[in-house]
Amino acid sequence: FYIGVDLGTSAVKLLLMDSDGKIVNIVSKEYPLYFPHPGWSEQKPEDWYKQTVIGIKELIRDVDKSQVAGISFGGQMHGLVILDENDQVIRPAILWNDGRTTEETEYLNTVIGKEKLSEYTANIAFAGFTVPKILWVKNKEPENFARIAKIMLPKDYIAYKLTGVHCTDVSDASGMLLFDVKNRKWSREMCDICGISVDQLAKCYESYETVGTVLPQVAEELGVSASVKVAAGAGDNAAAAVGTGTVGDNMCNISLGTSGTIFISSKNFGVDKYNALHSFAHADGSYHLMGCMLSAASCNKWWMDDIIGTKDYVGEQQSIEKLGENHVYFLPYLMGERSPHNNPNARAVFLGMSMDTTRADMTQAVLEGVAFALRDSLEVAKSLGIELTRTKICGGGAKSPLWKKIIANVLNLKVDVIESEEGPAMGGAMLAAVACGEYDSVEEIAAKVVKVVETVEPDADLVAKYEERYGQFKEIYPACKPLF
Ligand code: XUL
Repeated sequence: FYIGVDLGTSAVKLLLMDSDGKIVNIVSKEYPLYFPHPGWSEQKPEDWYKQTVIGIKELIRDVDKSQVAGISFGGQMHGLVILDENDQVIRPAILWNDGRTTEETEYLNTVIGKEKLSEYTANIAFAGFTVPKILWVKNKEPENFARIAKIMLPKDYIAYKLTGVHCTDVSDASGMLLFDVKNRKWSREMCDICGISVDQLAKCYESYETVGTVLPQVAEELGVSASVKVAAGAGDNAAAAVGTGTVGDNMCNISLGTSGTIFISSKNFGVDKYNALHSFAHADGSYHLMGCMLSAASCNKWWMDDIIGTKDYVGEQQSIEKLGENHVYFLPYLMGERSPHNNPNARAVFLGMSMDTTRADMTQAVLEGVAFALRDSLEVAKSLGIELTRTKICGGGAKSPLWKKIIANVLNLKVDVIESEEGPAMGGAMLAAVACGEYDSVEEIAAKVVKVVETVEPDADLVAKYEERYGQFKEIYPACKPLF
């Protein structure tokens, strides 16, 4: 068996896969998310590890534990975890959707300059990336900065706790702004800019490489053999791409999780000349481009749970009848926005309500707003000459047939649905299987294991209606921008 750990923002999802790629069990364990100031977002690495261990025990309770061979990860990206010389966590992790680093991001993009950043790392600074956070700690918490012995990413903290090895992988390292993506190695220039040394960073592996075996005390606690291998794993988006078979050239995956991403795989390294899309290393040894919106399924969760106060997502969506004709628009920038606007201060907006607007219209506007915002990133990809006709889809939002239909029509793409929407956890388990030698390569396991069960086709009439509405949606952000 292989265990995939998807270290998400709302919960850790654990998936048990057998050697044929069949899903045997799935377990999810939540942990708190802290917003200590508006726009800030933190979690405690200790909570991640505690819930991961509880989850793994539950996951493998009913199987022969001696048959567990490997563990790997898909992890929320960019988060800053800092350890002192005794490997103790110095402060809560600052997450990917935290917007506190406006000043540091501005400094990097203007004083160091986008050209230099792009030359060193293939990317420019976004507030959620790790380097602006390191600079924030340096500026605002110098006593903590002085204590840093190791800088890690979220899933790498779990790998460290399991194996005692400080490691990371190329896909997740790409999102730090410390990594020379093209050459798949740390950037000394970026280390100098941060005032850190390469020794403070973890050793970087390909996602499908083994970093070590579980520590004896961990093996004992989990009830597994001490020969269980831990593979480096990937950032959650690259892991999701593996889990949905988005490997090879010009394949696309959309993830509708807390964040929303559009991920385009590529055999060759490439940079979008405006750096509106991220250019990162992929978990299969190649590269990818990606647009990331900070609030996707979380917009719907916020609207359902916190505003209208219901858990009946299916029931709410059943009352939506007139796709393509809604007069209400929603800008989904609850936590600011990354791609393509790069504006941590952007906020969500409802626009266009009238006395006859219904709750269903507003629910529909939320689902459509997320789809339009994904389309913004797709438009950047198209402007680079990338031509796509279809995409895979994963994440909690992918459970909704209505949302998949809206996405197929707003983006005018065929949406291929996989057996399970657990992209990152499945990808993590698949990377573990490759590391253990069960399969020769990520491409091989993806071809053998991932099955498309349904395709949602765009409908010409609806595509035309949404084309017109997207034209209006595009006007709203520039009009509101001066108010944010
Ligand atoms: C990607 C990003 C998010 C997180 C979510 O750049 O920031 O998708 O990885 O966990």
